[in-house]
Amino acid sequence: MREEIMAPRSERGLQQEAAIKRLAERFSGQNMTYRITTLGCQMNAHDSEKLAGILSDAGFTEAEREEDADLVLYNTCCVRENAELKVYGRLGYLKGYKRRNPKMRIALCGCMMQEPTVVEKLNKSYPWVDLVFGTHNLYRFAELLEEMYDADRQVIELWDKADRIVEDLPSIRKHTFKASVNIMFGCDNFCTYCIVPYVRGRERSRKPEDILREIRTLADEGVREIELLGQNVNSYGKNLEEPVSFAKLLYEVSKIEGIDRIRFMTSHPKDLSDELIAAMRDCPKVCPHFHLPLQSGSDRILARMNRHYTKAQYLDIVRRLREAVPEIAVTTDIMTGFPGETEEDVEDTLSVIREARFDNAFTFIYSRRVGTPAASYPDQIPEETAKVWFDRIHKTLEDVMNARNTERIGKTLYVRAEEINSHDKSMLTGRSAENLLVHFKGDPSQIGRIIPVEIDEQMTYYLIGHPVGGPCNA
Ligand code: SAH
Ligand code: SF4
Ligand code: F3S
Repeated sequence: MREEIMAPRSERGLQQEAAIKRLAERFSGQNMTYRITTLGCQMNAHDSEKLAGILSDAGFTEAEREEDADLVLYNTCCVRENAELKVYGRLGYLKGYKRRNPKMRIALCGCMMQEPTVVEKLNKSYPWVDLVFGTHNLYRFAELLEEMYDADRQVIELWDKADRIVEDLPSIRKHTFKASVNIMFGCDNFCTYCIVPYVRGRERSRKPEDILREIRTLADEGVREIELLGQNVNSYGKNLEEPVSFAKLLYEVSKIEGIDRIRFMTSHPKDLSDELIAAMRDCPKVCPHFHLPLQSGSDRILARMNRHYTKAQYLDIVRRLREAVPEIAVTTDIMTGFPGETEEDVEDTLSVIREARFDNAFTFIYSRRVGTPAASYPDQIPEETAKVWFDRIHKTLEDVMNARNTERIGKTLYVRAEEINSHDKSMLTGRSAENLLVHFKGDPSQIGRIIPVEIDEQMTYYLIGHPVGGPCNA
């Protein structure tokens, strides 16, 4: 049984490898360059690392600007309309550049390509796009590039059966010391506003042994911090032949030597188990940060969103998390302007913000996505009303964040230095265990290390501090 599953995978790997080699030979000595623009969530960011890995193995190097690149690639998102409009806008802009540089090729991939209307539109009205492929065709990227360079028509490959998981694609990471690892793909939740289940397909978990093997290899390469990725990590492993829980996976990842921080994204409140809260408390490597999308604080709206929890249940989870891990930072996603929402519902959301005391939040105005149930609800909210509510939510969030951060002044946070500060070269920017953004004086040799930093100032979205007592790990 095992043999059967493994064999086609490695065959696909070999095909990809052969295609990469052929590309490298084909363009040898031509200094081919690429530029990838990534929109959307961490899944897309991680996919882009793999696309960059494949291009790098094929001998392409990264261009500073997409206008000068031989291959321009957009890894798209369709969760909100804005992200889509941005892509069409850029395509219009790039058309002129392509006319001047006939060597330029434009490729599009990612979630937007899984929408049939988008592909139709690209095929009809954007003939200067050379390659279009979907979220499940990543492992064929090198072969698709070959097809693109051979053909003088638009190459489109979409594959709507999201049943496979291909292991071992090469990848290029932004940082040497931290890496993302997919633990599952797709989503089965069908929140009524959300297009992700339609474009990313059904939920599939990777086997724990494949995940652990990947993390061990990363640790051997010098990676210290791991972020486990999935649309709904709490339901990880439920559909595996040998089911395993997300909490169990955390205990196993914790055992891997060399890894000192483990993070994860995203959790759905409905599946949050006591076992996971215990794992957060008992595994010192698991960071005290929990991203727990709220969406709305109104029970009525939550039911219409198909979220399967109530305001009281949500607040109870936050209380239990804080009880188990007192220093925990809780962050969230909030949406307003959902069909049928009223002033009263918004008040409920504000009251959850005040009670939960979020440390940060992504806030969105509801965007109508064709094909989702909510798109056809009759009581759509006018944009102006949603904007007023959005501002109110923002203001309340900022008040709460200011209060939370003010409590951190004078405290020491353990910050992994990630990069030189973009405004002041004598400062470093990093993330505390709680995932808070912290700026502090330091030098580039400290990048990648965890430094104790005493917090002096808070600026709502970030903290400023000074290092104390020297590095705590070298
Ligand atoms: N799987 C994650 C979220 C993925 S999408 C979860 O369930 O928590 C990230 C965020 O985008 C969501 O949490 C939601 O707040 C927002 N979002 C999704 N669909 C949207 C839509 N149609 N309009 C506006 N925001 C949306
Ligand atoms: Fe979308 Fe809901 Fe799935 Fe998150 S859980 S990806 S919001 S359907
Ligand atoms: Fe966007 Fe796709 Fe992620 S729609 S939010 S990039 S899963």
